Amino acid sequence: MDEKEIPKNQQREDDEETMNLISSLPSDVDFDGKKLFKYQGCWYNDIILQGILNFQRGFEPQDTDIVIASFPKSGTTWLKALTVALLERSKHSSSDDHPLLLDNPHGLVPYLELIFQTSKPDMTSISSSPRLFSTHMAFQTLREALQNSPCKIVYVWRNMKDVLVSFWYFKCAILKIEEERSMLESMFASFCRGVINNGPFWEHVLSYWKGSLEDPKNVLFLKYEELKTDPNVQLKKLAEFLGCPFTVEEEESGSVEEILDLCSLRNLKNLEINKTGKTARGFDHKTFFRKGQVGDSKNYLTPEMEKRIDMIVEEKFRGSDIKF
Ligand code: A3P
Repeated sequence: MDEKEIPKNQQREDDEETMNLISSLPSDVDFDGKKLFKYQGCWYNDIILQGILNFQRGFEPQDTDIVIASFPKSGTTWLKALTVALLERSKHSSSDDHPLLLDNPHGLVPYLELIFQTSKPDMTSISSSPRLFSTHMAFQTLREALQNSPCKIVYVWRNMKDVLVSFWYFKCAILKIEEERSMLESMFASFCRGVINNGPFWEHVLSYWKGSLEDPKNVLFLKYEELKTDPNVQLKKLAEFLGCPFTVEEEESGSVEEILDLCSLRNLKNLEINKTGKTARGFDHKTFFRKGQVGDSKNYLTPEMEKRIDMIVEEKFRGSDIKF
């Protein structure tokens, strides 16, 4: 039977089962007054959670799948662009039909939790070899659905203060409101409590860190700040990890720098598609590109806020070799 022909009552039963499960989970509210549910150690709203549960039930991994994972506002858009550019480099060296010129990185690398908003999505429309997906769910939740498949998972993480400020800007941009300090303050409180979509931040980062230690062949743990300071080395690391290392000829002909230029914040931000378009969820593409500056949060957080985050980080990441 074709996936699209799943009987309606079967789908309704699946949805009902999912909603029953969600309502049985521990719940709390975030800075916005939105109800979040704790599932496998992290908080999600009911819509995202429905996608996650459908994904865990129905995803059929392929060995060549690649999943780009992150806590929101940690450099997801950049990593998506770099991955697309790496994989496409032999096909589109200098042509103007490069996928990054035709769509925003989020259109090219869809979120699993959004694909699975329906319990049996049509996966045939996802271009293959390899299929590229993304997610904000925690490692243990993703891993459960991938079973023992040798899919590659690339995670990017970023310091918690810049993530918070980036998130504040993004939220204001999508709501089309001025940046209100009161919103930053309530977001800060949610972040510190850990009750934020996909949070706690530390649980999220640590889940992938542990995953990368346990399975370094299939889980790569990248740091936004290192991508900024050492992009050549990090891009080559990513290429090696994905099984498409740069050849000597490519390195000599400037292929690494070409990809970094194409995917630079300045370049992506100025592409027509990113100045004007919208994502499937209705977010303006331009909201994904702001400053990309390491330590920009200093300009917005009070010394007390910084101190509180430093203490949380110190406590939660103690015993790991994660350095902020
Ligand atoms: P700032 O708000 O600090 O500028 P995400 O992609 O996970 O939503 O993260 C968004 C953050 O990544 C924003 O940070 C954005 O400016 C930055 N960003 C987007 N594209 C980038 C790129 N090509 N290079 C570096 N940073 C980028």
